[in-house]
Amino acid sequence: MLILKKKVERDHITMKNLFNLFLIMLLVSMPILSLAANFSETCEDGSGEPGSGFGIGFGIVLEFGLYRNSCPEAESIVYSWVETAVLQDPRMAASLLRLHFHDCFVNESPLILYFGCDASVLLDDTEGLVGEKTAPPNLNSLRGFQVIDSIKADLESVCPETVSCADILAMAARDSVVVSGGPSWDVEVGRIDGRTASKQAATTSLPSPNSTVPTLVSIFQKLGLSQTDMVALSGGHTLGKAKCTSFTARLQPLQTGQPANHGDNLEFLESLQQLCSTVDTSVAITQLDLVTPSTFDNQYYVNLLSGEGLLPSDQALAVQDPGTREIVETYAADQSVFFEDFKNAMVKMGGITGGSEGEVRKNCRAIN
Ligand code: HEM
Repeated sequence: MLILKKKVERDHITMKNLFNLFLIMLLVSMPILSLAANFSETCEDGSGEPGSGFGIGFGIVLEFGLYRNSCPEAESIVYSWVETAVLQDPRMAASLLRLHFHDCFVNESPLILYFGCDASVLLDDTEGLVGEKTAPPNLNSLRGFQVIDSIKADLESVCPETVSCADILAMAARDSVVVSGGPSWDVEVGRIDGRTASKQAATTSLPSPNSTVPTLVSIFQKLGLSQTDMVALSGGHTLGKAKCTSFTARLQPLQTGQPANHGDNLEFLESLQQLCSTVDTSVAITQLDLVTPSTFDNQYYVNLLSGEGLLPSDQALAVQDPGTREIVETYAADQSVFFEDFKNAMVKMGGITGGSEGEVRKNCRAIN
C-alpha cells in the first residue's frame, strides 16, 4: 500500500514537472512563433511589404494619434525643438534621423525583453548597465542626445510619463526630414522604452559602411525590410556627414595604384584623399551629399550615378547590383518616387517593435 502511494505521488510529481516544462516551453516559444508569423507576413513574397499593421514584434500595437487625448501638445513640442535645433545646427537633422535608425536596428533580445525601436540607444552607462553609445558604430559618431533630453523634459512637464522616448525619436526623425525640405508622414506611436541595452548587439547588428549589396539586403530583410526599402532608407545619406575612417575603402584605388573600380570618379576620390591626408583622419569629416548637404532631396542618388557616393556601401548600390542600380536610377530621375518610398520605409522601420518588458522613461538616458 505504501509502495503504491509512493508510486502515485512520484507519478504525480513527474506529471506536474512535465506540465511545468510544457508551460515554460510555451512561454518561451510564443515570442518565436509570433516573430515567425510576422516575418512570414512581411517577407513571404520577398517584398517585405507590410500586412495590416507592420511590425516584426508581438504585443505592441502602434497607432496613429495615440497621444491626441493623453498629450495633445506632443507633436508640436517635438516639432518646435527639432526646428530650433536644426536652425542652430543644420546637421542636427541628420543626427536625429540617424538616432532613430540606430535605435530600431538593434535588437537586444527577441525572447524576453523589449526590442527594436525601444530607445535603448539613448541609455547612458550606469551601474549594472552598459549602454550602446560606446559601440563602435556609435562612438564619437552619434549626436543629438541633448535635443532629445530637451524634448523629454518639456513633455514630462506637460504630460508626465506619457510619451515614450522611442516615440520621441520616431517623431523627431520625421520632423528632421520635414524641416530639411523632405516629405512628411504620420508617425505611428505607442512604442515602449526598453529596460535594457546591448553594446554587443549594437556592435554586430548595424550595417558596416563596407558592406556589400547582398549583405545590406540580408540585414534589412531580416528586419522585414525589402531591397527597395533599403535603397530608399539609404537616401537618409542626403543629409549629414561622415568621418574619413568611414570611407577609407573608397580611397583604395588611389592608394594602391590599382585600376579604379567600375563607376569610380577619380577626381572625387582625389578630393577625398586630399581632405583625409591633410587633417587627422579620426576627426576629418565631410558631407555625405556634397552638392546639397543640408537639404533632404534626391541628390544623393544623382551623386551615386556620377560616382560621388561617399561611403563604399552607398556607391555599391549603383555599381554592384543591377536591381539596386535600377532603383537608384528611378530615384535620381524622379524625386517624388523617392519621397513616397522613403516615407513608407520609415513607417516600416519605425514598426520594428516588440517584447514584453518596457516602460515610459522619465529621463531618456536612464531606466526609471
Ligand atoms: C544602408 C546601410 C547604412 C550604412 C552602412 C550606414 C552607415 C553610416 C556611416 C558609416 C555613417 C557615418 C558615421 C561617421 O562617420 O561618423 C552614417 C551617417 C549617417 N547615416 Fe547611415 N548608414 C546606413 C543606413 C542609414 C539609414 C537607414 C539612415 C536613416 C534613414 C541613415 C542615416 C544617416 C545619417 C543621416 C547620417 C549622418 C549623421 C550625422 O551627420 O550626424 N543611415 N551612416
